[in-house]
Amino acid sequence: MATDAIETLPVTYNYKVVRQFAIMTVVWGIVGMGIGVWIAAQLAWPALNFDLPWTSFGRLRPLHTNAVIFAFGGSALFATSYYVVQRTCQARLVSDGLASFTFWGWQAVIVAAAITLPMGLTTSKEYAELEWPIDILLAIVWIVYAVVFFGTIMKRQVEHIYVANWFFGAFIVTVTILHLVNSAALPVSMTKSYSAYAGAVDAMVQWWYGHNAVGFFLTAGFLGMMYYFVPKQAERPVYSYRLSIVHFWALISIYIWAGPHHLHYTALPDWAQSLGMVMSLILLAPSWGGMINGIMTLSGAWDKLKDDPILRFLVVSLSFYGMSTFEGPMMAIKTVNSLSHYTDWTIGHVHSGALGWVAMISIGSLYHLIPKLFGKEQMHSVALINLHFWMSTIGTVLYIASMWVNGIMQGLMWRAYNEDGTLTYTFIESLVASHPGYVVRMIGGLIFFSGMLVMAYNVWMTTRRDISVTIEKSEAVVATV
Ligand code: HEM
Ligand code: HEM
Repeated sequence: MATDAIETLPVTYNYKVVRQFAIMTVVWGIVGMGIGVWIAAQLAWPALNFDLPWTSFGRLRPLHTNAVIFAFGGSALFATSYYVVQRTCQARLVSDGLASFTFWGWQAVIVAAAITLPMGLTTSKEYAELEWPIDILLAIVWIVYAVVFFGTIMKRQVEHIYVANWFFGAFIVTVTILHLVNSAALPVSMTKSYSAYAGAVDAMVQWWYGHNAVGFFLTAGFLGMMYYFVPKQAERPVYSYRLSIVHFWALISIYIWAGPHHLHYTALPDWAQSLGMVMSLILLAPSWGGMINGIMTLSGAWDKLKDDPILRFLVVSLSFYGMSTFEGPMMAIKTVNSLSHYTDWTIGHVHSGALGWVAMISIGSLYHLIPKLFGKEQMHSVALINLHFWMSTIGTVLYIASMWVNGIMQGLMWRAYNEDGTLTYTFIESLVASHPGYVVRMIGGLIFFSGMLVMAYNVWMTTRRDISVTIEKSEAVVATV
């Protein structure tokens, strides 16, 4: 049994920046998912492009991905990492000024993205579309974030560095390197640049970035969240602290090799594709190790799920994490990928991770966090959290089930051929067959999005009274080995 020293010295934390990021998480969640519903509707009814360049699918799609990943997910990660690092280190953020700079700098990056992407200004690298001046601002904000986070760890009052901080730390360091390497480009004007890489090398660097954006931005950071908020909400120590350390090292050392599974059957050398496939299969083990560690934290406290919708959000998010990290390795097998690639199966996989895991763990963590940040006992309405939980779960299931059906159907229709070697179906026939799935996906997305509006109302009602708690007794999570 190893425990973090629990001291009861009063420490003043910087909750202001945590509050700012927490509120913006809800705001950007609504914006990003609202655009998601719009583009989902465009795929069912293309007239919703309105024949305008700014509202065409091709421009709104990267706006959606940037808004949900970087604005919504990023704000959730800033809020929770700043909160967790202070409480588990029993130390105030190393600099209030720098922390505030990261908040305003990050919002500036988001606003710049929201202006330039609909204008069609893009590097055309997926998840790295922003042009070079915005990339430079992003790099500065991120490096300052690293200074604030690691600076706080350095002035910690406890010797031990709690495992959540390891995950947050790996996410911050790796995203810095990914961004700097993949965004290297030659500017030719203020709004146009060309990648420093060419051909297959460019593709490999891009998907080394892209896959590790999933592994570190959409996974490691959120695992940091999981390791703090699940034990807190369940009021239980982490199931196995030893497993959490094995989980950490195994996950970060394997993720980094799996990128080539995005480039199966391309000009990338065959050995690199096979390496990516094998590493992806191995990745199942640490991913499930983490999921099991999170879910088993509830051992002896399962009854809490009956009446705690926040815990339900956290546990169901782990189930979706387990699902998507089983599905991912299967899709990385070359023969399976030959069916799934280019189809809606990939989109279903993305959103079982994005809605089921990333969004639901963030929402659960925010419901835990917000009353504490605003000095309240609990959220305004537990019934509304419960309603939100069901809306999120039903919305996610409708989204991913419709995309599985569409994806497998598309893959099978595209590869079907007649005895004389001609294709059995035209492309338009597969599109017509996909239409019902697109409508169901849009309805699922709309339900998930409406849940965010319920959350906004609940947060508004919780926060509108005065802010009374700024000084709190510090605490650390007790962990077992
Ligand atoms: C209401 C919720 C949402 C809806 C309705 C929605 C809808 C969509 C649609 C229609 C697409 C384009 C699919 C295509 O090109 O065929 C898309 C792509 C994408 N969305 Fe969402 N989305 C939602 C939430 C989210 C969230 C919360 C995240 C991340 C945290 C996310 C991440 C992505 C990503 C990464 C892609 C690109 C997938 C790829 O290129 O394979 N989405 N979304
Ligand atoms: C063990 C873990 C995972 C593995 C091995 C894995 C594997 C894969 C594979 C094989 C693809 C399809 C590539 C293609 O055909 O183009 C894919 C796509 C994708 N996955 Fe995963 N996945 C994992 C977990 C996750 C999680 C947890 C998330 C989200 C939080 C996620 C987000 C994505 C995204 C955004 C794409 C689409 C990329 C694009 O083409 O734009 N993955 N993944």
